[in-house]
Amino acid sequence: MPQITFIDHAGEKRPVSGDVGATVMEAAIKNGVPGVVAECGGACACATCHVYVDDQWTAIVGEPSHMEEDMLDFAFDVRPNSRLSCQIKITDQLDGLIVTTPERQG
Ligand code: FES
Repeated sequence: MPQITFIDHAGEKRPVSGDVGATVMEAAIKNGVPGVVAECGGACACATCHVYVDDQWTAIVGEPSHMEEDMLDFAFDVRPNSRLSCQIKITDQLDGLIVTTPERQG
């Protein structure tokens, strides 16, 4: 199972395992990772699953879709490496992925 490390805004690391085909948001919720709220349950309609993708992973994770970009406008402290974690599907290529959660959601 691919490993994903969530780092909170204070720098605390939480490594979790994610199922291939699930989303990074689902891995966070399943493992009780604080800082990922996911109010809409993954419908790209709330922006409370916002994460920052680590620089070394941005090219592999890829760009957000137009719909995701529009929803990111509602997120707090958006940066060039911002993504909605419900829109990142876990693949074997993402084993080792590192994302940071923002100071707050929404
Ligand atoms: S869970 Fe709502 S946009 Fe990702």
